[in-house]
Amino acid sequence: MGTPRTVAIDGPAGAGKSTIGALVAERLGYLFLDTGAMYRAVALAALRRGIDPDDAERLSALARQVRIAIGPPTVRDGRAYTVLLDGADVTWAIRGEDVDRIVSQVARIPKVRDAMVEQQREIAKRGRIVMVGRDIGTVVLPEAERKVFLTASAAERARRREEELAARGQKRSRQDLLTEILRRDELDSTRTVAPLRAASDAILVETDGLSVGEALDRVLQVTRA
Ligand code: DC
Repeated sequence: MGTPRTVAIDGPAGAGKSTIGALVAERLGYLFLDTGAMYRAVALAALRRGIDPDDAERLSALARQVRIAIGPPTVRDGRAYTVLLDGADVTWAIRGEDVDRIVSQVARIPKVRDAMVEQQREIAKRGRIVMVGRDIGTVVLPEAERKVFLTASAAERARRREEELAARGQKRSRQDLLTEILRRDELDSTRTVAPLRAASDAILVETDGLSVGEALDRVLQVTRA
């Protein structure tokens, strides 16, 4: 089949989707879109406006109002891409603990999802793209030419998150991170709209025990197959 035009990478929090997805895009010379960053930007906007994460009506309106733009890094500080929320750089702000805590609640609201999915499909129309998220292969781009479902055990994902935070000078206990990951898995997998699951035609890649380089090779291999 050769190299597909659209590559969908889904999987749970911390499986390595963003890291691997960005590298796959770089290798292929494709656009990269991490859709999780879009839900995070809406969650951040809600926090800043004091909107309750259970207020579906206000959040739905907010998701339509805010302008989210994701593009190549504008600052060389380790970021894989720059996220703008109404023109302001929120690349690191969307990674805060406060956003982590409410983003799954925000992402389960059907109208919030509709607003994001519409923009994601519009971006995909530009062509060669690697898009990562939870529902890309199942809902956003069901016709994607290649679908990868990236997984790792919860323990491994908590360990990676601990390392990632430590690299940014933040300290959280592994147990705490594991609890948070399991809670998000539960919320993301059991929501009624677009729950996290592998598309029937997705290729499963398990990354436990693999280095980033090894996981990348494996994903490139199945992507180009
Ligand atoms: O991948 P992430 O941790 O940055 O995602 C943040 C949240 O957004 C997470 O709770 C799942 C949700 N999400 C989603 O529901 N659909 C997507 N396509 C991407 C992320």
